Amino acid sequence: MKTYNVFLDYYDEIVRNINNPIEDEVDFLVNDCIKQYKPFTKTILETACWTGLIAKELIKSWYEVIGLDINKNMLKKAEKNIDIKNLVLADMTNFDLWKTFDVILCNYNSICHLTKWKQWQDFFKISNNHLEKDWLFIFDINTIFEFENITRDFAQFYNFNNDTVCLEMFKKDWIYEWLIKIFKKTEDWKYDLIQEIVKEISFPINKIKKELINQWFNVLKIIDYHYNEISTKSERVYFICNKK
Ligand SMILES: C[S@@+](CC[C@H](N)C(=O)[O-])C[C@H]1O[C@@H](n2cnc3c(N)ncnc32)[C@H](O)[C@@H]1O
Repeated sequence: MKTYNVFLDYYDEIVRNINNPIEDEVDFLVNDCIKQYKPFTKTILETACWTGLIAKELIKSWYEVIGLDINKNMLKKAEKNIDIKNLVLADMTNFDLWKTFDVILCNYNSICHLTKWKQWQDFFKISNNHLEKDWLFIFDINTIFEFENITRDFAQFYNFNNDTVCLEMFKKDWIYEWLIKIFKKTEDWKYDLIQEIVKEISFPINKIKKELINQWFNVLKIIDYHYNEISTKSERVYFICNKK
């Protein structure tokens, strides 16, 4: 399902500039994940690459990056960061690029946008098909603990010149829904309200680990992004795996 049609214009600023600057994250990805486990990495497939902000930094570190995303408007924006010939419009649960990569990356809880367990299984399988033995599969999740926290939080507001963006999360069954409201000032000083819902889900760390092992991966390390050691209070967790 295509998501982020409206929020797309604000996401880089809100999520990747104000809330989670990407410098530390890229440093973590390059030095603590890729160089630590596969220092001779050359090629990276970044699934759910968004507007290519992470890819742009990885390219600066001399990696060859292919960016894949399901949203064509997103890929249009990514053209400023990734050469158009290296962008692929596809569903990360169902693609075939007819080659393998040194690393497959799915960053910033993008996997949580696959709201059915079967889609996670398909994504693991297809990623495994696009790797050679020993090469890396890296992704991160927001934990259930983190989504529960966000659900309890107050709404967040961000002002952009004429527009105000409001973000809130609600839980419906086991799906966490971002309700995104954008108030756009009109020429006659009123506001138009545009709304969008983005759905996410998470699963217990052990269930994910077990499935990765079933799907022919070694799980090399599971890291709490903020505190290193995994605990019941971990909010954001990276899985670093390689193909068996
Ligand atoms: C949280 S954003 C990505 C953030 C980006 N990876 C980063 O590190 O800043 C989630 C992305 O997942 C993409 N997405 C959601 N479902 C997808 C699917 N089935 N296949 C490919 N991309 C998908 C969305 O279009 C969006 O670009």
